[in-house]
Amino acid sequence: MTSPAPVLTIDGPSGAGKGTVSQRLSEKLQWHYLDSGALYRVLAVAAGRVGLGVEHESQLGQLAASMQVEFRPNRDDLVRVLLDGEDVSGLIRTEACGNKASELAALPQVRSGLLDLQHRMRTLPGLVADGRDMGTVVFPDAVVKIFLTASPEIRAQRRHKQLMEKGLDVNLPRLISEIRERDLRDAGRAVSPLRPAEDAFQLDSSCLDIGAVVDQIMRRLREGHALKS
Ligand code: C5P
Repeated sequence: MTSPAPVLTIDGPSGAGKGTVSQRLSEKLQWHYLDSGALYRVLAVAAGRVGLGVEHESQLGQLAASMQVEFRPNRDDLVRVLLDGEDVSGLIRTEACGNKASELAALPQVRSGLLDLQHRMRTLPGLVADGRDMGTVVFPDAVVKIFLTASPEIRAQRRHKQLMEKGLDVNLPRLISEIRERDLRDAGRAVSPLRPAEDAFQLDSSCLDIGAVVDQIMRRLREGHALKS
């Protein structure tokens, strides 16, 4: 029997730098990349279109299991996200969509509806999986598990900078309070709460740049013998 593709999981709260770090690592390793948060965001878009809200848990679970999501790398290196063939990359990146995704993510049937889709992305030569429950629930046998954090203020400042660069004017104190609120909901939910796996390596990126975080994770992978050199 062949062994399954190795998985590196990067979990942590919003804005800790998981996305950038995971994409850099997937390029370096030439492994696939799973942005699991994008799946919850795409579901929020799909649900909005058919008028489903948190009170429709079982329909949401069915929708999660049946929607066709595709991640397509673009020429400009940005991954495009397609829902049933339509490019929804812009729609899913708004704060409102992130907040709606976080509400839907608290529903057990939604989480189980998205499990199969996530497992199917585990293919050779390997997978970098970015999310909240990658190391605890979705890929408990990952070769290396990282829990990446940063203070809420630093995370809000980073998010603020990203949004300003996109030409969106947002209020920083409001962003800080929304991040705190989302953290509380993600960590406090009954199913798959945001928490480090017992065997996760915890890394605080508040005072580290992306390169330093990537180097530390690469060192972990080598020490864990997940890489040949
Ligand atoms: O990471 P991102 O901000 O795109 O995720 C949006 C929301 O989806 C999170 O706030 C969280 O509630 C949810 N999520 C989750 N489990 C994951 C990934 C994201 O619950 N593995």
